[in-house]
Amino acid sequence: MKRFLLLVLTGVLCVACGQQPDLQSRLTVNDEKINEIIAQMSLEEKVEMMHSKTIMSSEGVPRLGIQDIKYADGPFGVREEVADGFRPKGWPLDYATYFPTGSALAATWSPELAYDYGNGIGVEARLRGKDVMLGPAINIQRLPVGGRTYEYLSEDPMLAASLATHYTLGMQAAGTAVCLKHYALNNQETNRGSVNVIVDERTMREIYLKPFEDAVVKGGAMSVMAAYNKINDYYGTENFVLNNEILRGDWGFKGLIVSDWGGTHSTMGAALGGLNVQMTGDNYFGPALIDSIKAGKLSEKIVDDRVREILRVRFAIEPVSEDVANTVMTSQKESQQTAYNVAAKSVVLLKNEGGLLPLKTSDVKKIAVIGRNAVASTAAGGVGAGVKTPYEVTPLQGLQNRSNGRFEISYAPAYKAYYGRFGYNAKEIKPEEIASAIDEAPDAKLLAEALAAAKEADVVLFFCGTNKSIETEGSDRADINLPVGQEEIVKALAEVNSNIVSVIISGGPCDLRELEKYSPAIVQGWWNGLEGGHALADILYGDIAPSGKLPFTFPLKLEDSPAYALGNFPQNDDVDADVFTVAHRADIATEQRTLKKREAGAPTAYYTEGQYVGYRWFDTQNMPVMYAFGHGLSYVDFVYGEIKTDKTKYRLGDVMEVSFELTNSGNMAAEEVVQLYVSRRDATVEWPVKELKAFKRVAIAAGETKEVVVELPIEELRYWDVESGDWALEGGELELLLGSASDDIRQKADVTIK
Ligand code: BGC
Repeated sequence: MKRFLLLVLTGVLCVACGQQPDLQSRLTVNDEKINEIIAQMSLEEKVEMMHSKTIMSSEGVPRLGIQDIKYADGPFGVREEVADGFRPKGWPLDYATYFPTGSALAATWSPELAYDYGNGIGVEARLRGKDVMLGPAINIQRLPVGGRTYEYLSEDPMLAASLATHYTLGMQAAGTAVCLKHYALNNQETNRGSVNVIVDERTMREIYLKPFEDAVVKGGAMSVMAAYNKINDYYGTENFVLNNEILRGDWGFKGLIVSDWGGTHSTMGAALGGLNVQMTGDNYFGPALIDSIKAGKLSEKIVDDRVREILRVRFAIEPVSEDVANTVMTSQKESQQTAYNVAAKSVVLLKNEGGLLPLKTSDVKKIAVIGRNAVASTAAGGVGAGVKTPYEVTPLQGLQNRSNGRFEISYAPAYKAYYGRFGYNAKEIKPEEIASAIDEAPDAKLLAEALAAAKEADVVLFFCGTNKSIETEGSDRADINLPVGQEEIVKALAEVNSNIVSVIISGGPCDLRELEKYSPAIVQGWWNGLEGGHALADILYGDIAPSGKLPFTFPLKLEDSPAYALGNFPQNDDVDADVFTVAHRADIATEQRTLKKREAGAPTAYYTEGQYVGYRWFDTQNMPVMYAFGHGLSYVDFVYGEIKTDKTKYRLGDVMEVSFELTNSGNMAAEEVVQLYVSRRDATVEWPVKELKAFKRVAIAAGETKEVVVELPIEELRYWDVESGDWALEGGELELLLGSASDDIRQKADVTIK
């Protein structure tokens, strides 16, 4: 274990100094021993390792004392112990820390916090006896409506890659393997089990694969989950190009690839396509695989290669003894603190007209907390990503706990709860409080109560947004409208009290055009983990300054976003073939029906917007947005001094140093995320008008001025040259754009790339 930690530490240091150690090679240190083991194994024993044993484990080699591999969901905390069919076992000690969800983590723009976060989950996984955690989830947020946008990190590959890498380093330093998911281009839930993503190679490499590449190469990820969907005509589990050529070939991946649950579709295709473990079932990687080899259709060498990779992970991760696992509560104090730290740096202050925030005791005595999202739990639900948490501080509880007698707080739910098809256990809500449609008009009684509370108060905190049934694995949202009459409610509230702070509790963006009119202040509060309510209260009360920055764009309206504008989403041919709900959990008769539907018309998702995803699209189209990528205000102002570079000309291998003075001109300590974008002049290659290439979170005391240095390795400026099939650097003039958000550039400089 010590040696392992040292290797990981060396990895972290080298990433920091720009040199890349070969983190994958540590997986091969036992290859000699592993080859001897494989030589002793029967074909049946080998194939036994290549499919599920239980819903969350795959077999070791019992005869040789090699332990099973134990997996657990998910990206935001160790999922409770489940039996087949994902039925909770109801164990007393499997309450795990619920960490802020993906987009919240990304809003911190903090690789250090991503490391702590991965580490915290990794430590808790060990307590549960788990070897492989099914996370991080790192697909690019292509669609504002995406059911898993909240699980994923960002619309920007550089931000997602940096956080994914550090999450990986942190988790694996705890002795738990990550499983990067979902490889790759799993950017929609609609027909996720059948959709065929058609994407050009440059876009694929630069945008969609970048987080995976960095987490494998710079983070040393030991396992990867193949996505449900097809990519350029082949399922993720059968994708020779993605799995064998790119992941294993170009990136040197030495670990294992597991299918998403129910995502294997063939024996020969998956064996040749590079899959190691079928999850779940053995209909492809069981007797049929043995037969294919015995019939001479497949070489046993392929099975040996795949088993070697499984054993590499098994040897790199020390099994937890059954006597030790699950003897203490999974959730640990240190992780709970990390969850708080992340939440406190993720909250984004979108708007603050007239300095309504922070709430000041001089102006505010009575606060009306309006909206059911102030009390809704966000830990459970969302299917695989739900966490059984030991506690969860809701926004209302956070405000009450942290008030310390400063404020009088009332609460009114204002709107009903809405639960869709997936992902939520509505047991605690009374049936009459459940809306029958997502766009149901406000209930007169609930609205009247809310207005009465608002009228009495000095300020209204309106908690709006979605929930984990509206944004969930298994389906995409139909639109990004605020649900259950929230727009009408905020309008009515504004008539009785104009001091409205709207707090959006959601994982993805919402349409804020109406809300914005009635809210002098708006905060993006996320689904922020078990300490989320405390972090939010600390910010609203001004005990700490907000410092989160948007990891995705809030478009003005959904139709502006690239996949919609170009008619690429939604696809017309909805075959309703969700693999999780229909095929994976169903009886055979239903599964066969599903397969027939798939054959009848698998939808195709054309990514014709190419690299113009998120702000790359809006900027290049010169299209206004509601809130730009990277946006986030503070309670202080930051003054950016003159930008300097260490040289004027750079070549491949150099690391550009961009320096400037940053001043906090306010009267409280605060943190700023400085962002460095680049724009190409006279380019011969096609580029978006600007791209994020480096960033840094800087803590800065009241009135202090700090010298800040941001590093940009020149290799990050390369593009994927389709002609040569390799990365290439385009020479020429580069404009550096340094600022506080993608639409708030404060300093510019020119450099030359040779
Ligand atoms: C999800 C994965 C998850 C797996 C196991 C699948 O439906 O797509 O993200 O890890 O189930 O729960």
